[in-house]
Amino acid sequence: MAGRIPHNFIDELISRTDIVALIDARVPLKHKGKEYTACCPFHNEKTPSFTVSESKQFYHCFGCGAHGNAIGFLMEYEHLDYVDAIESLAADQHIDVPREGTDSARSQPDKQPLYTALQQAGEQFEQQLKTSRRAIDYLKKRGLSAEVVKKYHIGYAPDQWDFLLKTLMANNISSEQLLHTGLVSRNDQGKVYDRFRDRIMFPITDPRGRCIGFGGRVIDRGEPKYLNSPETVVFHKGSELYGLYQVKQSLRNIDRLLVVEGYMDVVALSQHGIDYAVASLGTATTSEQIQKLLRSSHEVIFCYDGDNAGRKAAWRALENTLPVIRDGLIAKFLFLPETEDPDTMVRKAGKTAFEQRIDNATPLSDFLFSRLSEAIDEHTREGRAQLAEQAKPLLQKMPNSIYRELLFAELSQRVGLEQDALEARIAPRTPPPQPSARPSRSNTQQLKTTKTRVAIALLLQNPSLVACYPIPANFKTANSRGLPLLYHIYQTIQTNPSITCAALLERYRDHEYEKALNTLALWSSPETENTATREHDYINIIQRLEKEERYEYLLDKEKNQGLNEAEMHEFLHLSAE
Ligand code: UTP
Ligand code: MN
Repeated sequence: MAGRIPHNFIDELISRTDIVALIDARVPLKHKGKEYTACCPFHNEKTPSFTVSESKQFYHCFGCGAHGNAIGFLMEYEHLDYVDAIESLAADQHIDVPREGTDSARSQPDKQPLYTALQQAGEQFEQQLKTSRRAIDYLKKRGLSAEVVKKYHIGYAPDQWDFLLKTLMANNISSEQLLHTGLVSRNDQGKVYDRFRDRIMFPITDPRGRCIGFGGRVIDRGEPKYLNSPETVVFHKGSELYGLYQVKQSLRNIDRLLVVEGYMDVVALSQHGIDYAVASLGTATTSEQIQKLLRSSHEVIFCYDGDNAGRKAAWRALENTLPVIRDGLIAKFLFLPETEDPDTMVRKAGKTAFEQRIDNATPLSDFLFSRLSEAIDEHTREGRAQLAEQAKPLLQKMPNSIYRELLFAELSQRVGLEQDALEARIAPRTPPPQPSARPSRSNTQQLKTTKTRVAIALLLQNPSLVACYPIPANFKTANSRGLPLLYHIYQTIQTNPSITCAALLERYRDHEYEKALNTLALWSSPETENTATREHDYINIIQRLEKEERYEYLLDKEKNQGLNEAEMHEFLHLSAE
């Protein structure tokens, strides 16, 4: 495992990044008063309720509640995970992401040289394609246009045992690194050689567009027809999807995603104007892949050949979809005639006819019930009991949702049992926690106005306020839950005086108070809005909190051990206030 990314690096990264520019490059913003606005990219709307605050360096949608800083935006908008989002921001700033504890990082090969090698290999293959008559003729025969070849960076690996070895080692990439990329293999005699020879090369990219592996097709005949990169530290077949990067590049709103079986299918569909197809990499589509797809689009259509193998693959996709499907998400199945695949079909039928098939795809629930009842006689009690029995493990996989309720309703109708009785038998009332397909966004929680909250809001929104009045050290151990938090924020700012609001929030990601702090960062009250009296208000509130805390302390002491004269005097004074 690579080491942790240091906090102060993340602070620095957030303060170097301008969230307005970051978002504006993806979602054009309009300047409006203190803020920038646009129609929200995370839900459908006609009037803008998405706002970006330059001073606070974060965004918030009053429509759907989406909010966050630059890291959060990239995670949501570009569907990146946390570390990828940080690496992407760092790359924009031309800086490297440091890691704590380099010792642990040493046990695994550093990924960067592998990305570099894979990138260079891809460029070499593209270059080679230009000079190979044979490869060009083959692609022409398959009907591929020059544009689509370019869009997917399709290339050619020449018929040599040491093409990449020679070329990349000349660029200072070691054979050891090449072995880690899976681009070369080592035989029993210890000799290394190129894995891909005389093949059409399809580079596979991660969500950030980095090449992580290849699929290589033989020209005409030969075994295996497709050779894929092996699993490496940068390439995990079960979690990547061929073509997803290109879909995200060409579409801002992905209304639907089509999952097909082959590289050629994705490319042919794209060439014919269906630019939302992806392929799983020569294996069954995993739950992880489906989850990724459902994060990018709310509708996924699995497209398979109409033959037996296709039906089997579709059923496996259905099984892997159930655990990750949630309300509002749609999964459908499209079966092509037995002798067609999407490549041949779209060439024959064209875009419109193909999309008509997509429009008429079978909803998951229909596929589920029709497949289950295939071998069953629903007219007999025995058959209906069998149906319930077979549906049981499938419905049990589903998270609690309205969708699951509807499937239960349908099953209860088919089986002829009350839904409650059926559910009681089949569904455990507390299903295991499921990974959610979309991060939850409800920060619409209402917080009551208290002095502590106003103080936290002021400090979060204006970290420079730390300088005007110290937070008393006894807040650290105070009983009220807010005061220790206020103290903690204060300390964080003191040790990082240039920290911004957005960077502060970043420190509390996954923290028990993350939600409350996000709400407070947006909090608006007379104290937060009035710039002229802000410092004065802040000092005032802290002083009052200080007195209250002191009063509580003396009250407690008076009860337990009694007060000396000076303390008694102070106590009476405070209680009068
Ligand atoms: P298909 O055999 O259906 O090939 O494999 P295809 O996509 O129609 O390709 P063309 O049209 O003949 O060129 C579908 C997918 O299964 C994986 C590949 O990912 C391929 O795209 N596959 C197939 C392999 O990994 N290895 C193989 O030998 C064959
Ligand atoms: Mn094909």
